[in-house]
Amino acid sequence: MKLLVSSLLVILFYYNICLVGSIGLNEEFTWTRITFVERKSRYYRPKNVEISSKGGYVYSGGDALVFPEDDPVSSTTNRPDLNGDNANLEYIYENNIPMGANRWKNKLFITIPRRRLGVPSTLNYVPIDKPERHNVPLIPYPDLKTNAMRATADQEHIISTYRVAIDACDRLWTVDTGIVETLGNQTQLGEQRIIIIDLNTDKIIKTYRFKDSDLTHATVLAMTVVDVTSNNCDDAYAYFPDLAGFGLVVYSLKKDESWRVKHNYFYLEPQAGEFRIGGIPFQWNDGVFSAALTDARADGSRDMIFHSMAGTHLYVVSTKILKDKDLATRSYHEDDFKVLGDRGPGSQTSASDLHKSSGILFLSMVNQNAVGCWDTNKPFEPKNFGIVQRNDSTMVYPADLKIYQDDIIVLTNSMPVFLYSSLNYDEINFRVWMNNVYEAVKGTNCDNSI
Ligand SMILES: *[C@@H]1O[C@H](CO)[C@@H](O)[C@H](O)[C@H]1NC(C)=O
Ligand SMILES: *[C@@H]1O[C@H](CO)[C@@H](O)[C@H](O)[C@H]1NC(C)=O
Repeated sequence: MKLLVSSLLVILFYYNICLVGSIGLNEEFTWTRITFVERKSRYYRPKNVEISSKGGYVYSGGDALVFPEDDPVSSTTNRPDLNGDNANLEYIYENNIPMGANRWKNKLFITIPRRRLGVPSTLNYVPIDKPERHNVPLIPYPDLKTNAMRATADQEHIISTYRVAIDACDRLWTVDTGIVETLGNQTQLGEQRIIIIDLNTDKIIKTYRFKDSDLTHATVLAMTVVDVTSNNCDDAYAYFPDLAGFGLVVYSLKKDESWRVKHNYFYLEPQAGEFRIGGIPFQWNDGVFSAALTDARADGSRDMIFHSMAGTHLYVVSTKILKDKDLATRSYHEDDFKVLGDRGPGSQTSASDLHKSSGILFLSMVNQNAVGCWDTNKPFEPKNFGIVQRNDSTMVYPADLKIYQDDIIVLTNSMPVFLYSSLNYDEINFRVWMNNVYEAVKGTNCDNSI
């Protein structure tokens, strides 16, 4: 009898695993190493790609990969104007580690911060409506010239970006950190700026240089969160967590002004800095890393749920506070900021985003090689948190997580292995995972259809 019960339990447990394994996220794009497409250039052609007689690209493996005639890169004849000495450093595939992924229509944006030399282009995309899914070369966006590391004074360009936001008004927002990092040597090549691109015209429509008072000497703005509705595109706000300066920068498009918000909840949690990822133990001290907005209330305000990377709590503040410069910058915040709760040991999260119509919050749990979820309609209790997908070999370091319409997009990039060990560039290192959010949470605690 006892045996029967335990084998039943095993069967139930096994069934449950199967069920969970059959949904979650799909591996949509995979890369062993990052390559770039640029026609008419002998510099960026991927090693295994030949120019075909049709003028497109063909993998030597035989799969045709022909880019459309209106490929924005094809019109570019300039290559980045680097120091002559560094010419051979223009493309070093080992240093091209994708950090952000986001989507707009048929474009899957992939960002590569210039954390080392040898990154030809920081803002890029790959087409989603083409069948190619493995080692698809990145296309610089809006073009290669804009991504040039050094540019003439009058040329709009983007030096280094970590991640991008896509808003409800067909605009891409990002921060150009202006920094080129080489090992142990940071070089500020440009100002730290907000860049806004109209996705319908591929034009930079606005740049905004942060004020000195927005920043600290340690500032790193690696994430952008945009607060806007499609019927009020001019009245947009953007929030920028400062993960190393431990603050939040707010920008109002209408007022064309920015301010810095200070609060202790933006700091790291000292006891949550231990990480073990990809078999490598290390300590990180990143503070506020990501923020997710709830649906707008009748008065236009939302809640901003945020957290530190070295932390396990979730916090919340109303955007009513953040959007009002006087309230946002007052020296004592009373109870403006609230603790939602502690997610528990090992729940450290890089990116998070909220699917507004369902209220499901998704968390990229770097310390567990997993994507988690919480249905925010339910109380903050462990039983209302779920694991969407976990895999210790394929989901190492989910670095970005975005909701686009009803889809979830997750980028995993094996970052700690790159930093503290070495990647094998013949294996798959970078993946973009996707699924419909309702499919992704099926069978988890966040599935509110059961
Ligand atoms: C850091 O980079 C700057 C600019 O590229 C260079 O002039 C300087 O020599 C570098 N310093 C070190 C220690 O490598
Ligand atoms: C992790 O992914 C690998 C490769 O797809 C697969 O073989 C393995 O079963 C997965 N592990 C789990 C626990 O799902």
